[in-house]
Amino acid sequence: MSRELPLGVFDSGLGGLTVVRAIRATCPNESILYLGDTARVPYGTRSAETVIKYAIGCARLLVSRGVKAIVVACNTVSAVALDALRVELDIPVLGVIQPGARAAVAAAKGGTVGVLATAGTVASGAYPRAVAALSTRAEVIGQAAPLLVPLVEEGWLEGEVPRLAVRRYVEPVLARGAKAIVLGCTHYPLLYDVIASEAAAIAGAPVPVVDSAHATAEDVRAFLRDRDFAATRSGTGSLELLVTDLPASFATVASRFLGHEVEDVALVDL
Ligand code: DGL
Repeated sequence: MSRELPLGVFDSGLGGLTVVRAIRATCPNESILYLGDTARVPYGTRSAETVIKYAIGCARLLVSRGVKAIVVACNTVSAVALDALRVELDIPVLGVIQPGARAAVAAAKGGTVGVLATAGTVASGAYPRAVAALSTRAEVIGQAAPLLVPLVEEGWLEGEVPRLAVRRYVEPVLARGAKAIVLGCTHYPLLYDVIASEAAAIAGAPVPVVDSAHATAEDVRAFLRDRDFAATRSGTGSLELLVTDLPASFATVASRFLGHEVEDVALVDL
């Protein structure tokens, strides 16, 4: 298999673009084929069985287009479907929870880690398991924040509505002693500023807010280097975007988020 093939990256919708942005900053010469399953977002409120089925569909589509590895840019899928994907696919599969847990433990300095995530990720216990593998001391408080995904998909990223929703979710986490908050859903970094400012206002001091995208991108770079599988092209890699519904509105929010014009978002059927 060629090392010049793109990395396949997928999420239920827009959230995985936070990981795409970090990979492009960390490994600029890698090409990326991204799939947002916008027809079936949100994943976070669905059963593990359904998420596994959807995830296998997304991954197979990417594999059929020719990718050298899959980066699961979705915590919900990483929490419940990583093993199934690794069994199903003949190429490497990387997730976001291990790197997120590592960054969170470091940010909390051994103190309690607060996890804002989808209901599915919280129910899976994936973050407590990942944190326990890294630190026997650090406790984990999980808080489902289901309203944040539709706010992000709507592009409703500032103002009173997201502020109040964020406050409602962050308050109990801080009240239970969290020393850092990990954004355990790849949609949430789009609300990073609101989450960080509400957390600071509630705590009366800045609270570290961890976005797992950067830690994931570092893992991707290390993985490609260790396997001797990094692209060798000297220029910037390409970015191709696929969605399962509403390509035009995806292109608008994606352009805003990636900081450059995104024109071609292709519609695909799984
Ligand atoms: N962005 C995804 C995650 O990281 C899923 C959000 C959703 O579809 O509910 O969990």
